Amino acid sequence: MIDLPIRLRRNRRTEAIRNLIQETELNPADLIVPLFVLDGAKQAEAIPSMPGIERLSIDHILQKIEHLQERGIQSIALFPSVNPTFKSKGAEESWNSNGLTARTIREIKRRFPDICLIADVALDPYTIHGHDGLVDNEGIILNDETIECLVRMALSQAEAGIDFVAPSDMMDGRIGSIRAGLDAAGFHQVGILAYSAKYASSLYSPFRDALKVHLQFGNKKTYQLNPANVREALLEAKLDESEGADILMVKPALYYLDIISKLRAQTNRPIAAYHVSGEYAMVMAAAQAGYLDAPSVFYEALLSIKRAGADMIFTYAVEQIFM
Ligand code: PBG
Repeated sequence: MIDLPIRLRRNRRTEAIRNLIQETELNPADLIVPLFVLDGAKQAEAIPSMPGIERLSIDHILQKIEHLQERGIQSIALFPSVNPTFKSKGAEESWNSNGLTARTIREIKRRFPDICLIADVALDPYTIHGHDGLVDNEGIILNDETIECLVRMALSQAEAGIDFVAPSDMMDGRIGSIRAGLDAAGFHQVGILAYSAKYASSLYSPFRDALKVHLQFGNKKTYQLNPANVREALLEAKLDESEGADILMVKPALYYLDIISKLRAQTNRPIAAYHVSGEYAMVMAAAQAGYLDAPSVFYEALLSIKRAGADMIFTYAVEQIFM
């Protein structure tokens, strides 16, 4: 035997010891489950690029939430799959107080008042071209005009009973305007979960399949962040915080763990991370080919995101891990 007084393997010898020294935990209550909502009743549509995930009509959404709640999930994020007949250049449907999102929020809150409900605030499900903002005749994405729509949209969600509005469009100044709009209407209790560092990523395509929102022209690089940049993301988060964001989000998650960890050092606000559709789809495809075990890969992925500094994670992988 060599003379070796320090042996780190002593702390890994049994499962009980390993559990004692475990630094990061993953709990169902840390997770936010995105749900894709369809109009109508008894509707469930598979999404081929997201195996295991479906678009659901409100009746099925309620059943799903009951099931999730039994497993300890407490938070849901809503994404409406909007019928093309309701899409327009001005995205007016996005603030319809009787639209799909508002109706879904009301139904969920009536049945499950304790669920934390989050809804996206961005125009892309409602515009004909699929951009997150209004577009002028030259194809420029308009900032301030878009914000007026976002404030209306946030108010319609607040009236329906949302807990957090989640602006996901990366327009400048939207957090401050939405906060002011909510406060002026008396919705001081409604929080803002800001997609603060949202990158122009190639990992969103399965999500765009899910909502059938495919860009008719261009790309989102004039509003979403360049994947090459760190400081710009930290600046975005700082601004959102100063404009009144309650929670700051980094998106996607795994390719951006450095951003999460640097933001952790910068802010005392809670941090969310979005483990996006492409991150889910890659693992599911590999699992279907027999190359990987999806549940254990997802567990490791989500643990890494928490280890980097996220307090909460949006993920499609909940059923793979906890159900
Ligand atoms: C819409 C929005 C997107 C996602 C969440 N909200 C897509 C996009 O910006 O193009 C992506 C989520 C995912 O890929 O899981 N603004």
